[in-house]
Amino acid sequence: MTKRTVPGIAGSKRRDGAEPIVMVTAYDAPSARVATEADVDMILVGDSVAMVVLGYDSTLQVTVDDIAYHTAAVMRSDPTAVVVGDLPWMSFHVSPTETVGNAATLVRAGAHCVKLEGGAKRLPMIEAITAAEIPVVAHIGLTPQSTNVMGGFKIQGRQADAAQAMIDDARRLESAGCFAVVIEGVPDVVGRRVTEAIDIPTIGIGAGPDTDGQVLVYHDIIGLENRFKPRFVRRYGRAYEDQVSALTAYASDVRTGAFPGPDEVYSAGDELAEALGLYGSGPAADPAADPAAAPAPTTEPTA
Ligand code: KIV
Repeated sequence: MTKRTVPGIAGSKRRDGAEPIVMVTAYDAPSARVATEADVDMILVGDSVAMVVLGYDSTLQVTVDDIAYHTAAVMRSDPTAVVVGDLPWMSFHVSPTETVGNAATLVRAGAHCVKLEGGAKRLPMIEAITAAEIPVVAHIGLTPQSTNVMGGFKIQGRQADAAQAMIDDARRLESAGCFAVVIEGVPDVVGRRVTEAIDIPTIGIGAGPDTDGQVLVYHDIIGLENRFKPRFVRRYGRAYEDQVSALTAYASDVRTGAFPGPDEVYSAGDELAEALGLYGSGPAADPAADPAAAPAPTTEPTA
């Protein structure tokens, strides 16, 4: 499988003939291994880990250390995708210096680049990070870290002036050095206009079919997150139902004694059983428990 690079992604504009960019979130080694097997282009270690893994009802609870921890786990799977470390809320809001330090923490955990939410007001932070040779993906539209300001997870850019502001933001983010822009939760025409307006690729989530790539949350794709399905999610699996049925079958087998079976035990033979004072292997062979089931003792019991 081909190793993806930041310059390779930066040059992936569909209007120039590139294939759509495939991005998926992943937060641990097994999911990153699956993503690599599926040959995705980009893995986002997103702050969505807060909601789909850690049980919070917003993304505001995770820290730089949390994202670094999950990034390191993803990197241990040796992914071929470009890995994006998501800068969480309050990690890029205070000062450019602090922002660069936080971005560096994610790079040291293995990320090839970082993502941060917000438009023009984040330009000084973006310029500082890119000056430190850390590539940056921007994130505009519905930015979940702004949930309290937006009054919830609300579609953005429905009015012409808000849509135009988003297009202007995208141009400024490109000028500041971002190499790609995630656009979330906007009408399809806004996704299209932003994509047309800039030379770096756009990666949409709920932004219609005309962006240069698509991103979805891993747990939504495989159907492990089954509590709520936003309109833009397509489920490709039934992982929640499959896992409930696997665990239910396991529980039933343990309770009935069907697990473990003869092929799932380590046998050491009669000699060890005898040395341990057993008459065969397993409780049913214990004459005290079931004398009829026990083989005849080979030695006389001692007093
Ligand atoms: O954290 C995340 O999963 C994201 C995607 C929704 C783009 O930011």
